[in-house]
Amino acid sequence: MDYASYHRRSIEQPEAFWAEQAALIDWHRSWDQVLDGSRKPFARWFVGAQTNLCHNAIDRHLATRAEQPALVWESTEVERSRSYSYAELHAEVQRMAAVLQRQGVVQGDRVLIYMPMIPEAAFAMLACARLGAIHSVVFGGFAALSLATRIDDARPKVIVSSDAGSRGGRVVPYKPLLDEAIARAANKPAKVVMVDRGLQAWDAVAGRDVDYAAERDAVGAAQVPCVWVDADHPSYILYTSGTTGRPKGVQRDTGGYAVALAASMRDIFCGQAGQTMFTTSDIGWVVGHSYIVYGPLISGMTTVMYEGTPLRPDPGIFWSLAERHRASVMFSSPTAVRVLKKYDTAYMRERDLSSLQRLFLAGEPLDEPTATWIAEQLGRPVVDNYWQTETGWPILGLPSGVEALPPKLGSPGVAMPGYDVRILHETSGEPVAPGEKGVVTIAWPLPPGCMQTVWGDDARYVGTYWSTFPDRQVYSTFDWGVVDARGYVTILGRTDDVINVAGHRLGTREIEESISSHAAVAEVAVIGVADEVKGQNAVAFVVPRDATRITDAAGREQLAGEIMQTVQTQLGAVARPARVLFVTLLPKTRSGKLLRRSIQALCEGRDPGDLTTLEDPGALEQVRSALSAS
Ligand code: PRX
Repeated sequence: MDYASYHRRSIEQPEAFWAEQAALIDWHRSWDQVLDGSRKPFARWFVGAQTNLCHNAIDRHLATRAEQPALVWESTEVERSRSYSYAELHAEVQRMAAVLQRQGVVQGDRVLIYMPMIPEAAFAMLACARLGAIHSVVFGGFAALSLATRIDDARPKVIVSSDAGSRGGRVVPYKPLLDEAIARAANKPAKVVMVDRGLQAWDAVAGRDVDYAAERDAVGAAQVPCVWVDADHPSYILYTSGTTGRPKGVQRDTGGYAVALAASMRDIFCGQAGQTMFTTSDIGWVVGHSYIVYGPLISGMTTVMYEGTPLRPDPGIFWSLAERHRASVMFSSPTAVRVLKKYDTAYMRERDLSSLQRLFLAGEPLDEPTATWIAEQLGRPVVDNYWQTETGWPILGLPSGVEALPPKLGSPGVAMPGYDVRILHETSGEPVAPGEKGVVTIAWPLPPGCMQTVWGDDARYVGTYWSTFPDRQVYSTFDWGVVDARGYVTILGRTDDVINVAGHRLGTREIEESISSHAAVAEVAVIGVADEVKGQNAVAFVVPRDATRITDAAGREQLAGEIMQTVQTQLGAVARPARVLFVTLLPKTRSGKLLRRSIQALCEGRDPGDLTTLEDPGALEQVRSALSAS
């Protein structure tokens, strides 16, 4: 089939299209209705059907591929590796499920997973799916306050965690942060299951903390059947940053997600059962959920889970792992490639990458020099793809499994099946002509696998995503884009205050709130500023309460250091601003609105634009001189 008719059918006959794709997974019971649109903008897929994500990821493969590696774990941090066949993964996940059951976890309970990249993290996710419990994985790089906010929102019955992670050979303790987060949280978990790696001594809280190894021994060769859940039963919550300081819990269903992942594995990633997929992301992000854990396993592949950086023991480690495991499909981020670009290319050329079909990159804009460089080095197609935590799988890309469309440098590609992508004019809401910039939106319904709602807050879901153009039933991605006559969309950055640092999505409000908690800070603005390697960097402009603290360079340096430390302690190193600059006044309009885009333009050496509404022109001058002094 050609792409055009494939995509057209997915939009014009969504029920027929997705019912066909649904044959890619196992169902315990079939559906009564493919799509329920009775409560727009909500969309329920496969109503009345029952399935289980863990069954589809593991159990259904046992008859044909029990001995095939399912999960391969490689750690250059602790210099260990482990491989689990489908049969072994089945056994481990059942043991983890039995341990969770012993802590009282039943269908619908939330289980928060705060773990480094170790196999037990994947076991815990799959065990939750097995039980119909709802997991919420929190990225290990987040600190106590970020974690506490998520604990309070998800109200987990149990938390699965670990003593420590390791980054660049340095032990990163998890347990003290977890203890602090639980102390701060109003809704405390009943139990904490600790996977002890022996990296960092920790104190058990009596009555609350249990040791996974002991529990695992106690449950023995446990047999825990999959709980059949409704297709729209939530499989997980994954928090993501938006324009407020409060992260949104993206809630995903079960049946639609399994179908969408299976279809994307076939049509976009071209991953086949028996082959290997190596995704370099982290299980704390959506790419890790969909393409380290669920996607490859649902399609019967071997998935490689990697704990380590792209540079240790040398900048060839990604390719060594790809060679060792004969990876067919790789998935990484533009930032990782930009980091590697600085090193000797022999690291790549000397590896035997003959098994590799394609390298997929996502999470942030892929610039042309990086795309061209990596494609030349690999001699393989490099496929950009654009999506969001909210959608769970690509919105734009190249459907290589359907038709070999030519890539277009600078564009992630065309609309994936089920996504009725429309570029609308910012104010009129009318579709813009090809070549004109507008807001990237998706007409109702979002395809299977996309977010169902904001956890516990339907109003916020509708208010945030479906209200940008009130006259039209469209989901806003909050990205600017432009489409060409052939349907290729180019993404031009966010329309809101979300920034993207090294592929990590951060909310400037969250960082601002953290900085404001420092006693010396009167006001702050956090801006995303273009960076050659990371895409963007967070830069904070701070108005101190007491201007005498910043009169000399030493004072400024000290306060900047304290502010950075505050963010690191509260939110985590990922959110730490790259620079903290001081001013006594922030550029605002007469109505008090912060002129973020003007500040950003100055930071990037561009024209700050129309300043007629500026309250005090001196404020921009201060930004300018703070920048030149830094
Ligand atoms: O701004 C877009 C950017 O990252 C945002 C979503 O980030 P996150 O929720 O972390 O999900 C990442 C899933 C891959 C988008 O709104 N973005 C993501 N992919 C691309 C991109 N920008 C340009 N090109 C991409 N390929």
